[in-house]
Amino acid sequence: MLKVVGEDIGAFYQHYPRVAAIVTVSSAGRKNAMAVAWHSPVSFKPPLYGIAISPKRYTYQMINDSKQFGINFLPQGQAATVVAVGGSSGSFTDKFTEFNIEEDSAIKTDVSILQDAYAAYECKVVDNRLFGDHAWIIGEIVAVHIAVELFQENGIIDLNLLQPVLYLGAETYCAADKNSIKVLDRNEYGKR
Ligand SMILES: Cc1cc2nc3c(=O)[nH]c(=O)nc-3n(C[C@H](O)[C@H](O)[C@H](O)COP(=O)(O)O)c2cc1C
Repeated sequence: MLKVVGEDIGAFYQHYPRVAAIVTVSSAGRKNAMAVAWHSPVSFKPPLYGIAISPKRYTYQMINDSKQFGINFLPQGQAATVVAVGGSSGSFTDKFTEFNIEEDSAIKTDVSILQDAYAAYECKVVDNRLFGDHAWIIGEIVAVHIAVELFQENGIIDLNLLQPVLYLGAETYCAADKNSIKVLDRNEYGKR
């Protein structure tokens, strides 16, 4: 395999696809939603989830004020909603009205939970640090909303019923191929 070796990260899409999700926030009587591709679990106990948010985003100010956020995972069929909230700013529009986004109530925070989300976490901010041009904001998950019928007994997504929104970068989206599934047991393979 021919590789170009250097220091230029280019478009920085080499580590994609990533699940594109929607961060929700509510502050001073206003609510907002934005798309995120840079997000990650950080700890099981306590359950912590991190999101990388540019301080340029309206959402950033709102998280800073409210110290809360929600992260919502939508099925592929709702990819256009992810793109819509990722292509507009809440400082000009109420994205919920503009894009007909239906909400469920949160139980431990004031954030909106998207009705179409197959899973969502309500988070309370425990840390917020600037790294370069993004802030890495860590929230403790204080409530979870899960459409359990779309998950298998072992907790993984049932790809026959649900396709997550996979983002390849450069405005390009794809789906996970259920025919590619393999179960490879780490205990068995780790001994080889
Ligand atoms: C698929 C997708 C993923 C994105 N991921 C991020 C991200 O991880 N962090 C970020 O700061 N912005 C990300 N953005 C950009 C924001 O969603 C976008 O700037 C949005 O308009 C911000 O909304 P706001 O100004 O209402 O907060 C992404 C956009 C798209 C379409």
